[in-house]
Amino acid sequence: MSALESSSPEETRRLGEALGRAAEAGDVVLLSGELGAGKTVFVQGVARGLGFEGPVSSKSFVLLGEYAGRITLYHADLYRLESPDEVAELALEEISGNGVLVVEWPERGDVVLPKERLTLLFEVSGPETRRLTTEARGARAQALAEALGE
Ligand SMILES: Nc1ncnc2c1ncn2[C@@H]1O[C@H](COP(=O)(O)OP(=O)(O)OP(=O)(O)O)[C@@H](O)[C@H]1O
Ligand SMILES: [Mg+2]
Repeated sequence: MSALESSSPEETRRLGEALGRAAEAGDVVLLSGELGAGKTVFVQGVARGLGFEGPVSSKSFVLLGEYAGRITLYHADLYRLESPDEVAELALEEISGNGVLVVEWPERGDVVLPKERLTLLFEVSGPETRRLTTEARGARAQALAEALGE
């Protein structure tokens, strides 16, 4: 585990962009942290790094967004789900083979999410600063962590 600091939304977006450039189909990235911690800002960067030009919205109501870049970005937000059974219905593990899967609020269904994943924990350390702790499981997750500049 190691930690990064972001001092602005743009810096968080740039971190996401670096991850997006390094991503390969099958990669899984879990984003943990309280409301407003910067998870969606990071996903906007991932989309940019994959070459997707359009907007990326908060997925709190839609559950799963799909963005076609160099490879497809699947953006899931599990906030509104209440049990791992509901998360299982989304079949995220199957979907993840087709592109890069990025999941906000993974705690809602951790047991049904792929085991090899990069987890990023976002903590609010000030009005414009965020602390990102990374935990990599598997070789691909390790490569993505390195792409973030560790
Ligand atoms: N360093 C920073 N990195 C990211 N966002 C920041 C930073 N500093 C301030 N912010 C602000 O914090 C907010 C982060 O919002 P965002 O929607 O990304 O949070 P979230 O973690 O996705 O929340 P939710 O759990 O509600 O989906 C934005 O308003 C953004 O401008
Ligand atoms: Mg969000």
